[in-house]
Amino acid sequence: MTEETLSNLLHENRRFEPPAELAAAANVKASAYDDAAADREGFWAAAAERLAWTKKWDRVLDWDNPPFAKWFVGGELNVAYNCVDRHVEAGNGDRVAIHWVGEPADEARDITYADLQAEVSRAANALTSLGIGKGDPVAIYMPMIPEAIFAMLACARIGAPHTVVFGGFSAEALGSRLEDFKAKLVVTSDGGYRRGTASALKPAVDEARQISSRAGHDVGRVLVVRRTGQEVAFDEDVDVWWHDVVDSASPEHTPESFDSEHPLFVMYTSGTTGKPKGILHTTGGYLTQCAFTHWEVFDLKPETDVYWCTADIGWITGHSYIVYGPLANGVTQVLYEGTPDSPERGRWWQIIADKKVTVFYTAPTAIRSFMKQGREIPDRHDMSSLRILGSVGEPINPEAYIWYRLVIGGDRTPVVDTWWQTETGAIMISPLPGVTAGKPGSAMTALPGVSADVVNDEGVPVPHGSGGYLVLTSPWPSMLRTIWGDDQRYIDTYWSRFRDQGFYFAGDGAKKDEDGDLWVLGRVDDVMNVSGHRLSTTEIESALVSHPKVAEAAVVGATDPDTGQAVVAFVILRENAGDGGEGIAKELSDHVRTQIGPIAKPRQIMIVPELPKTRSGKIMRRLLRDVAEKREVGDTTTLADSTIMELISAGQATST
Ligand code: WT7
Repeated sequence: MTEETLSNLLHENRRFEPPAELAAAANVKASAYDDAAADREGFWAAAAERLAWTKKWDRVLDWDNPPFAKWFVGGELNVAYNCVDRHVEAGNGDRVAIHWVGEPADEARDITYADLQAEVSRAANALTSLGIGKGDPVAIYMPMIPEAIFAMLACARIGAPHTVVFGGFSAEALGSRLEDFKAKLVVTSDGGYRRGTASALKPAVDEARQISSRAGHDVGRVLVVRRTGQEVAFDEDVDVWWHDVVDSASPEHTPESFDSEHPLFVMYTSGTTGKPKGILHTTGGYLTQCAFTHWEVFDLKPETDVYWCTADIGWITGHSYIVYGPLANGVTQVLYEGTPDSPERGRWWQIIADKKVTVFYTAPTAIRSFMKQGREIPDRHDMSSLRILGSVGEPINPEAYIWYRLVIGGDRTPVVDTWWQTETGAIMISPLPGVTAGKPGSAMTALPGVSADVVNDEGVPVPHGSGGYLVLTSPWPSMLRTIWGDDQRYIDTYWSRFRDQGFYFAGDGAKKDEDGDLWVLGRVDDVMNVSGHRLSTTEIESALVSHPKVAEAAVVGATDPDTGQAVVAFVILRENAGDGGEGIAKELSDHVRTQIGPIAKPRQIMIVPELPKTRSGKIMRRLLRDVAEKREVGDTTTLADSTIMELISAGQATST
């Protein structure tokens, strides 16, 4: 396909019909929408039946005390048993569960379901010997190595809720999570490989423990995997090597059953205030919807598919669509440790060709960066094994959708644009690859059993062809249950905006097109989406203001062709800081990096004399966004001092 035909395609409103063969053999047919609409609870009960329960539920949904839901009330199960042991018992112990691919080109390891059972059992026994039991919070801060999955499943197996903290987060960010979660133990590694070099993780854990301790919570033990072999500080009272306690533990372990509502994990995510929210997911409903949607949306055939999701296990996508959903379905998957461009830019495509990946799930930001590098790189690899492509994390622009389908998918593969959130736990809005004729850029419709709508300020559904706020109008099995330790914040954040209607407010704006299909447009609150990572403007502002030279800061998400949005900060320095000195922008940017992590680093920091505020003192971010996106500044009549925008626009713009 030439570049010319590619660009012509962008201007047509083609719908991509499901391939006939795929449609004929699809796991889920169009009738599922009607079945679910006729009996939503019955539909989810049937989905739950796909799991192994040791005690059947008495009631599908308890919504007597909204917004606090209980699903599969009275039911009992073990998540690790469902993800591992039952596949071995069904005779599939020899099936590869994980094709692990290390970043160094010669490192790889295949782990069968039988191997996984032994590894998870060992890790569960080791955790027990370290004093961890049901209900004890465990934090996991690791690179993309198999032990990260063993650790998560071992926690699930013994009923210890985990929180996985993305390895790119700083010691500060980890420390505040350890404290909030009251982690008793941290699983980590000496380091991991990123772009060809071994970077350290353990020192951040040591520092984070001190931070947590100063805030009043002591972490008891740290379990350390040796990955890179680099030198690490070791405190014998606290630290213990994985190879000492796990490798010597028994590979046999009898799983205990837990209540359907037992806490499975907490995932911290950025909200509209400075403090990250601990999103709580529980056991039965979460696993039901993860497993079902993974099978439905990717039309998964566990006997023949090789699945690959490129997310990091430190995000919700890694939880639901690397660990829990795929393993519950017993599929073979790829787990890749490193970056897409190491040791060379075709690494991902090489992996797809080598492992004969059939279903591939990644983010628009990655697709855009490959587009920029040119199709010659993927074209060098045979990717004819691919049959379905998925997208997640941010709106996929039509150009990227078309390129993904044509260049990666050889114009054969449906692209499923999946909308969901940390809070929803599983995919909510997406085409079905064997049913839906996809439109480039649209997430299409709510999945069977899910009900979404677009409403106006009053909570009234908008007509076709209009935009508004995206809401979810009925409870769903994998919904968050609360914010860890803060029920009130849970109510306020998600359920107060449309309280009268009882709708869940997702925080996204969306459009319903003339056919009623949904186009998610992005956040309508103070949350940014940078390369599919969720960041809070307020959190970055707080980080900036904690620097001794900073008096005030305002952060906006400016549209960026590569990362979707980019962080742009406007900073007022303290009087005694003068002009901040040479390199002030870099100094502040490094400060954000140590406070939160590299992903929060501003693209640009502008030192300004004032910030635009309304008479009531609210920062007008809309105007700052105009400056950041180099647009003519909009209506300034509500500013307390309307001359400020001229000062800011003339201000010293410093890129970092
Ligand atoms: C926010 C949730 C879903 C797991 C990864 C991100 C945005 C996510 C899409 C999509 C448009 C999307 C939304 C959402 N988002 N998927 N397919 N189309 N926007 O999870 O960090 O909780 O972020 O990501 O803005 O609210 P998250």
